[in-house]
Amino acid sequence: MAATLNGLLLPVLVFVLFLTHSASGKHSRLIRHYKFDIKLKNVTRLCHTKSLITVNGQFPGPAIVAREGDRVIIKVKNHISNNVSIHWHGIRQLRSGWADGPAYITQCPVQNGQSYKYKFTITGQRGTLWWHAHISWLRSSLYGPIIIYPKKNASYPFPKPHQEVPIIFGEWWNADTETVINQAMQNGGGPNVSDAYTINGMPGPLYNCSAKDTFKLKVIPGKTYLLRIINAALNDELFFSIANHTMTVVETDAVYVKPFQSNTILISPGQTTNVLLTTRSQPPTARFLMYARPYVTGSGTFDNSTVAGILEYAFPNSTAGKFPLIKPVLPALNDTSFATNFSKKMRSLTPPPVPQTVDRRFLFTIGLGLNPCTTGQTCQGPNGTMFGASINNISFVMPTTALLQAHFFGRSKGVYNRTFPDNPPFLFNFTGTPPNNTRTLFDTRVKTIPFNTRVELVLQDTSIVGPESHPLHLHGFNFFIVGQGVGNYNASSDPSKFNLVDPPERNTVGVPSGGWVALRFKADNPGVWFMHCHLEAHTSWGLKMAWVVLNGNGKSQSLPPPPKDLPSC
Ligand code: C2O
Repeated sequence: MAATLNGLLLPVLVFVLFLTHSASGKHSRLIRHYKFDIKLKNVTRLCHTKSLITVNGQFPGPAIVAREGDRVIIKVKNHISNNVSIHWHGIRQLRSGWADGPAYITQCPVQNGQSYKYKFTITGQRGTLWWHAHISWLRSSLYGPIIIYPKKNASYPFPKPHQEVPIIFGEWWNADTETVINQAMQNGGGPNVSDAYTINGMPGPLYNCSAKDTFKLKVIPGKTYLLRIINAALNDELFFSIANHTMTVVETDAVYVKPFQSNTILISPGQTTNVLLTTRSQPPTARFLMYARPYVTGSGTFDNSTVAGILEYAFPNSTAGKFPLIKPVLPALNDTSFATNFSKKMRSLTPPPVPQTVDRRFLFTIGLGLNPCTTGQTCQGPNGTMFGASINNISFVMPTTALLQAHFFGRSKGVYNRTFPDNPPFLFNFTGTPPNNTRTLFDTRVKTIPFNTRVELVLQDTSIVGPESHPLHLHGFNFFIVGQGVGNYNASSDPSKFNLVDPPERNTVGVPSGGWVALRFKADNPGVWFMHCHLEAHTSWGLKMAWVVLNGNGKSQSLPPPPKDLPSC
């Protein structure tokens, strides 16, 4: 039944989804049950077969489909030797932090043979989000869409599309990705780049031995399609364009935006973007390539390749397969002015509840640093160093037990300390000449704030190793992007330009290369909430931290005790 909800065809769902109702008060509430079996499956891409870690043997993984207001229960059972945890990226998890999923932050991972039930209610959100593994680099193959329909009596703020199609970008490595990151962490250099980008798991015709694995979008003339675009790539922001077709952006990170048109969209790892695609009224005698390829600002190596899919109009006599292929034109790899203009077009559709005044102000510098080699051999970072990455110069050290448990039971001693700095430890020209000392400090530090604190957080890129765009993701909240700029943030002149009326509301923001972004959010969700760069290499190097939001008054402002099946470390 849910398999054809709103015309979205997801036949796989019938195997993993069943529905029940629960009586909560006088209203019956829909509960959607899923079963995620983590298991190995041989998958071949680019003529290379590897044993891939999958959910239910599917790659990409199954979609979670629900409506706003539904309760979702996903039983994750781990049949493999790696520890696993799953994060429901963008789900607010109001008072359900135990179900958020980042390993060693809100839970110990699920070990081989164990299972854990993630339980949460989808409150005040509708649109596209996604789920992914949240431990080491397992998300390279463990990811899938979360599709949230509006409530039964609600409709989209745009005409109902003829069909809805998830478009998930990913990265494929021929090598084992755990080996890739483990080697990089040991030698201090950048991890080996992927062998291909993928659309819905398929690299497409521009790679060797890959033409048969091409995503095709078959359309009919004169219809509107809703593309639910997700960037699940590990290390690359992506441009996406479809030849000779314009997209209308209508939603980002499960929040409606004022519609705007664009031939190309830019999407960072972690972000989701819903676009409307209206097909020609007359079927053209051509096929149209869709391309995704990276937007790159950093100085390191990256996968400079392009994934292609094909938009194909249905023709009665099925000759369409022979029509010429038209290529889209994408911005240059380092087109930062495109990035700036694109993000400036984003506005919330309806004025959101932006805090007009704030209780606490924070300035966090984010970026890379270089640390001395500790291996005894020559390290492979610049000049024999090891790459580090930090927030306010702290490279976050993963604890060996979950922060949320330590916090909840008052056993933080030896697990974390509360000294995360509100401001950079020393001032320098953040986007100018780097300081002499580029070392980062390794520690497990959190920032503790009371319930309902109205936070203003400025994220400032540093050019210590080189300016670079960083997609920062905050768990447990959406934030409002009230301002952004190039160079160093100026606390006396920049706030007067903030948009406190209709700023975009997101869970992941691209901090501009060599610039800053100002966010506001209200800390109305008690728990421990991870914040990190969604470029997986940077996360591995320590570009991450956690907020501890204390309980407020009474039950409705407090985190309930952990579920009985919460894994232990
Ligand atoms: Cu999409 Cu902490 O992650």
